[in-house]
Amino acid sequence: MSAPATTRSGERDGNATAARLLRSAAKKSYDPDVDIDWEAPLVEGKIWVPEHRVSLYGTELWERLTPEQRVELGKHEACSVASVGLWFETLLMQRLLKDFYADDPTSERAQWALTEVADECRHSQMFARLVHRAGVEPYGAVPFVHQLGKLFSVVNWGPAAYASILVAEEVLDRLQREQANDDRIQPLMRQVNRIHIMEEARHVAFARDEVTRGLAGLSRAELAYQRFMCAFTSYFVVRSLINPKVYAAVGIDPAEGRRAALANPHHREMIRFGGEKIMSFLDGAGMIAGPGTALWKKSFLLET
Ligand SMILES: [Fe+2]
Ligand SMILES: [Fe+2]
Repeated sequence: MSAPATTRSGERDGNATAARLLRSAAKKSYDPDVDIDWEAPLVEGKIWVPEHRVSLYGTELWERLTPEQRVELGKHEACSVASVGLWFETLLMQRLLKDFYADDPTSERAQWALTEVADECRHSQMFARLVHRAGVEPYGAVPFVHQLGKLFSVVNWGPAAYASILVAEEVLDRLQREQANDDRIQPLMRQVNRIHIMEEARHVAFARDEVTRGLAGLSRAELAYQRFMCAFTSYFVVRSLINPKVYAAVGIDPAEGRRAALANPHHREMIRFGGEKIMSFLDGAGMIAGPGTALWKKSFLLET
């Protein structure tokens, strides 16, 4: 493979990483319209998410559910995660387009920003079709957080923006990798997961580079702001994954289900497991400190 057409300054401005990712994207990208058989019937008896990853697993409320209701709750939770995933992808696209707007459009970094927007457009269509195919309401984030999301690309830029994007992408990625090779899972869900895993690896590489470079040389005040905004945004992303309305699908009061899930050690462990890799990266990069630490703990990404 030939060397990237970037100078040494490319290492500092993100163009070297972007050039490598552009070559990778040119070689392998997916089109969910073609690469997923949307007409294939759903397979009877398959689950949508492993039981131990359902938010009520192991609780008293879980014990009261029939096996069918447990599968149904798993389906609604998988669709809640997919619809929250596409909500956050929309916010990421806004950030990427603002970065493109501010950049030299011919640079590799700007070209990569558009490539990632194109990827996320296809992902968001894919997640929406998955939810529709499952016959579930596209829950998304609760209304207050949905409104708050409009501020994401206004108050988040640089390391805070890309670090909170990483939290969303890597938590989702870790859970999807666990399911991609699990043959108890609905084949449609597994194919969606496989496609997402392949393309997200490039997004993760870009965002990690943005965080590392963005944190270099910040003033103390700017660093404190970036750290707090990242914790604040990540808290809302993680808390949004399971919309409380999912519990009503199996006859559980949403507020009661929410309380039980947040107190459930299995659910807390799922979040910790999902965030394990990204938290160790963010900690090493110096992002986890200051008043935001309380929010990292409250989100269960950081152990108390
Ligand atoms: Fe995506
Ligand atoms: Fe992504």
